[in-house]
Amino acid sequence: MFEVVKTVWLLLPAYTPNNFAVLFGGGTPIDFGKKFIDGKRILGDGKTIRGFIAGVLGGLLVAHLQLLIERLAGFRLYSELPYDQFLQLAFLLAFGAMVGDALGSFIKRRFGVERGKCFPVLDQLTFLLVAYAFASISPTFGILFTMRILVIGIVITPVLHLVVNVIAYVLKLKEVPW
Ligand code: CTP
Ligand code: MG
Repeated sequence: MFEVVKTVWLLLPAYTPNNFAVLFGGGTPIDFGKKFIDGKRILGDGKTIRGFIAGVLGGLLVAHLQLLIERLAGFRLYSELPYDQFLQLAFLLAFGAMVGDALGSFIKRRFGVERGKCFPVLDQLTFLLVAYAFASISPTFGILFTMRILVIGIVITPVLHLVVNVIAYVLKLKEVPW
């Protein structure tokens, strides 16, 4: 159980960017409304420049709040790293999550899945795998993200996604429980 909590904690800078994009997104789409060679939108109206930037900044904000909480609560995960290393890792996780989110939309559009329609597995894992790939550039990635943590992340992310959505549905924040 502890390892699961630890995994969620370490992944918060990658989990939270999309929520900031939902809150602060809108305006010009990243693909500027352009279509791909298949005649469908490259990414679609759900991926905006403002949402992307807000997502990355939001992930960084959350990571800094985590540093603070770690200090107050007296445990060391992100606060174990030198600040510059922490910043690089947090940025790569948040940026990777937003790039992965856009890549997921790119793939959805190629399959003809419309903006906002769900695409199981892809919707829940693309962002995570790209966040892992980007973050692995950081020399300190392996210190916190052990193979065990990475695997737990892949297993729990779709489950967590489902649980959060069902809670949002019960609280009437969402119209459908998925
Ligand atoms: N959003 C945004 N910019 C981004 C990502 C998300 O503005 N880069 C906002 C959009 O308003 C989007 C909402 O957050 O509709 C929900 O995000 P998401 O579920 O990722 O997009 P979808 O609308 O479902 O589109 P897609 O089918 O392409 O995933
Ligand atoms: Mg969606």
